[in-house]
Amino acid sequence: MTQDELKQLVGQAAADYVNANVPEGAVIGVGTGSTANCFIDALAATKHRYRGAVSSSVATTARLQQHGIKVFDLNEIESLPVYVDGADEIDHRGAMIKGGGGALTREKIVASVADVFVCIADASKRVDVLGQFPLPIEVVPMARTAIGRRVAAIGGVPVLRVAKDGTPFITDNGKEILDVKGLAISDPCGLEAVINAWPGVVTVGLFAQRGADLCLLGTETGVQTITYAKH
Ligand code: 5RP
Repeated sequence: MTQDELKQLVGQAAADYVNANVPEGAVIGVGTGSTANCFIDALAATKHRYRGAVSSSVATTARLQQHGIKVFDLNEIESLPVYVDGADEIDHRGAMIKGGGGALTREKIVASVADVFVCIADASKRVDVLGQFPLPIEVVPMARTAIGRRVAAIGGVPVLRVAKDGTPFITDNGKEILDVKGLAISDPCGLEAVINAWPGVVTVGLFAQRGADLCLLGTETGVQTITYAKH
């Protein structure tokens, strides 16, 4: 199977999971990226079961609305039974690197409200140690260089993310992203706390303190369901 076919497989598996476990009339938290898009497309078939969704990005909002799924502002919602999203890497504890698509801040906010975080990923995303995929850090632009120095001090190589036209990539929140190469992250929770405390950091793309509860992993032999201990 191709990577795209595996993404479709887990997108459908996540829709099946939500249909089986989430009560009718609920609002669903929805992530961002090509795997999350497969979930949105699969969920569209049963959209009338749900009141709507809370979105983690402008792109996801557009895709949900194309399917006629109502998008709520998170401020209108008291609880989310589930949040479904992809990942750039996931380890054996359910800790993830996210933000390859640039939506890390809203993803972390929506995930923090959800009762259950379901990660959907093809098997290439499963790793022993996080960090082969560059770690995104969303930063306030004036703090970019100062944060870059702190990154270098812990052994990372910060690279400012650029858009196709060569200008800095700007997130949905009007901020920039440093992609950090060269880290082997043995303590994801600890590193998340350290980077979160640096002035000017909006969000670090380590999702470890609130990691996944469940991963639907697309493999050659089908979808593997992996559950993780509570965080
Ligand atoms: C976006 C994300 C995505 O979940 C992550 O980049 C995985 O994307 P894809 O499903 O396209 O491989 O964190 O900010």
